[in-house]
Amino acid sequence: RFKEQTGCPVISLPCRIQNSTHNGRIFPSPVPCNCCETCIENFELEDDCTVGSPGSPIPHGRCGDGLTCASQEDDEHTICQLMSGTNCLKDQESYDTDKDKGTTGHLAQRTLCDADGDYSPIKCIPGQICYCVDTEGRRIFGEALNIRGIEILMKCECSRQESSLGRVLETDMRVPFVRCNEMGSFDQLQCIKDQCLCVDIHSGFPTSDVVNITSQGLQTLPCFNESGYNNDSYHRECEEKKSILVQTLYNRARIGLYASNDTETYEFCQPDGYYARIQQNDTHKFCSDKFGNRIANYAAILGSPEADTMTCNCARVELLLKEKEAYEIPVCCSNGNYPKVSCRRGLCFCTDENGNQTSMEVPHEEIKTLDCYSGKNFC
Ligand SMILES: *[C@@H]1O[C@H](CO)[C@@H](O)[C@H](O)[C@H]1NC(C)=O
Ligand SMILES: *[C@@H]1O[C@H](CO)[C@@H](O)[C@H](O)[C@H]1NC(C)=O
Ligand SMILES: *[C@@H]1O[C@H](CO)[C@@H](O)[C@H](O)[C@H]1NC(C)=O
Ligand SMILES: *[C@@H]1O[C@H](CO)[C@@H](O)[C@H](O)[C@H]1NC(C)=O
Ligand SMILES: *[C@@H]1O[C@H](CO)[C@@H](O)[C@H](O)[C@H]1NC(C)=O
Ligand SMILES: *[C@@H]1O[C@H](CO)[C@@H](O)[C@H](O)[C@H]1NC(C)=O
Ligand SMILES: *[C@@H]1O[C@H](CO)[C@@H](O)[C@H](O)[C@H]1NC(C)=O
Repeated sequence: RFKEQTGCPVISLPCRIQNSTHNGRIFPSPVPCNCCETCIENFELEDDCTVGSPGSPIPHGRCGDGLTCASQEDDEHTICQLMSGTNCLKDQESYDTDKDKGTTGHLAQRTLCDADGDYSPIKCIPGQICYCVDTEGRRIFGEALNIRGIEILMKCECSRQESSLGRVLETDMRVPFVRCNEMGSFDQLQCIKDQCLCVDIHSGFPTSDVVNITSQGLQTLPCFNESGYNNDSYHRECEEKKSILVQTLYNRARIGLYASNDTETYEFCQPDGYYARIQQNDTHKFCSDKFGNRIANYAAILGSPEADTMTCNCARVELLLKEKEAYEIPVCCSNGNYPKVSCRRGLCFCTDENGNQTSMEVPHEEIKTLDCYSGKNFC
């Protein structure tokens, strides 16, 4: 109605051009219907800017990505300056320095930072996977094959939320309030007890009405997809087992049989409701697929150094790549970790716990010159 009667104001030039020198961010305009758009221009390096203060006019722009508005020494005048000091930006600087010196490995990639200088949601290993990281660059739940355009699909909104909550509560022994999908976005289908609805995978906002599944069934939800659900129950096998475990601990706590180390039980399920990658029995830790089955022979005796450092990151990637019949599959240690040294096409280099190349590559004959080389055992 408003749009028809008055029309929307024309958005300013930068947002209409959006090239490398003229660009801006589009926001809903503060007109009565909230149906128009407005443009906040992105300023460039050394452009004048204002830090919002009471009484000052509404700014028509703000410093662009990677820039921050700050005053220069002994000067009230503020201009857009390069953001610095965040860990992500430092990573980029050190990559750029190495690149200039010609000392970056052939698989090394420049770290991506967001507009605030924090880590972008994903880090990628060429030829393998992309995985989710939190704003400080720490790995969190969510991974997918590293395919072209994956950064558009994979934004890790759910796993970032889930991990920040996990850090506050400091225990895995709780029933999660939200379920993620394997890529770290929101599961399309969310339930609390018997009340379920569909949500947008990126925003988590509802896209359907709430349905009582006890009376109407899970199938009535538009986003329901039978794959992944047994017996019309929203909860997956792992979640069922975990909720029994949580209930047992809760009951013991109620009668005072609560030991503080009880909550230190290992992470049992992943935020997508399937089994976590490390599982254990009375004697061993082992690498598990999402259905709780052991992956190959990847295991370690409880309490051994191999068990204490176990990640199963390599084992899970091996599984993913084999399913896709990929060409090059990483060789993993017996506990499912990445080895400290990897060789590929006659060249060897150091790798971290996610399989990322962290040193220059050297010919196989010179493997002993690598910093990470420590005798024949690479695991
Ligand atoms: C962006 O567009 C503006 C206006 O058309 C033009 O003046 C400017 O040179 C363009 N910048 C680049 C890098 O193409
Ligand atoms: C959902 O439906 C069942 C069966 O009709 C009913 O017992 C239950 O109370 C309903 N749940 C809610 C939250 O209304
Ligand atoms: C259901 O999920 C499977 C596996 O994720 C997918 O291959 C299939 O296309 C989905 N079906 C529908 C109807 O969306
Ligand atoms: C499905 O339900 C039946 C009967 O309630 C039960 O025996 C079976 O174990 C269930 N299957 C799964 C995969 O949960
Ligand atoms: C927790 O501590 C108690 C007493 O110190 C001990 O008997 C028990 O085995 C511990 N449980 C675990 C899971 O480590
Ligand atoms: C525990 O797991 C290890 C490794 O998967 C296996 O060899 C062993 O048989 C299992 N033990 C029991 C009691 O299931
Ligand atoms: C891999 O390691 C290099 C060198 O340490 C670093 O610059 C890069 O950001 C790392 N990439 C990932 C995905 O961790």
